[in-house]
Amino acid sequence: MAAFLANLRNTVIAGFVLAALLFVLYWKMQGFDQATFWPFFVRWCHIGSGVMWIGLLWYFNFVSTPTMPKIPAELKPALGRYITPAALFWFRWGAMSTLFFGLILAWQNGYIGPAYTLDASDPGGSFSNPKVIDIGIGMWLGTIMWFNVWFVIWPNQQKALNIADKYPGLAQADKDSAARTAGMFSRINTLLSIPMLFAMVAAAHLY
Ligand code: HEM
Repeated sequence: MAAFLANLRNTVIAGFVLAALLFVLYWKMQGFDQATFWPFFVRWCHIGSGVMWIGLLWYFNFVSTPTMPKIPAELKPALGRYITPAALFWFRWGAMSTLFFGLILAWQNGYIGPAYTLDASDPGGSFSNPKVIDIGIGMWLGTIMWFNVWFVIWPNQQKALNIADKYPGLAQADKDSAARTAGMFSRINTLLSIPMLFAMVAAAHLY
């Protein structure tokens, strides 16, 4: 058992096998209904990706950054050279996958346009559908956060940590400035993640 769990790939496959068993349970007990299953499936992928993304965002903000000053100088490079670049891989692709499945979900639900325009063109009266306004705000917050990840945090972290040796000759002052920018936008995303999640969950359960 310990040897099995020591291998992450096996562990993840086992998790998916258990989820497949739940699918069989649903199928046998309830019957397969395309119209409800596929939106559910996309929602599951969306939330799974979101957990990967926001989990790492919160790890950076709640664990990694506040612990940094306590780490002895000789151990600090391990974080910048090995742990943070690996975390950033799952972080940015988690963000991409969350957006991808979120957009499909909005499209499946038939409100991708109305949501992004905050229900500006509702035939029943502009800005009158509270659920669409709510999910629209959540989608804008999530999309802004995705933009921050791909176009601010990631490029600045590449500079700050010289990831993949992309900026070998960068001056220390430029590295520090890039690290500060990445850190500030990571904080902004932590701030936005709280109302974003409220809006996401409220759309399905409060309206
Ligand atoms: C990046 C842009 C995002 C878009 C375009 C988006 C889109 C959506 C849509 C359309 C829904 C369906 C709401 C409904 O049932 O009417 C939803 C639900 C949800 N989203 Fe997002 N989302 C995004 C980011 C995120 C992030 C970062 C998370 C973090 C975990 C997240 C977590 C959730 C959750 C938990 C639900 C509720 C599912 C439920 O209770 O049924 N979303 N999202």
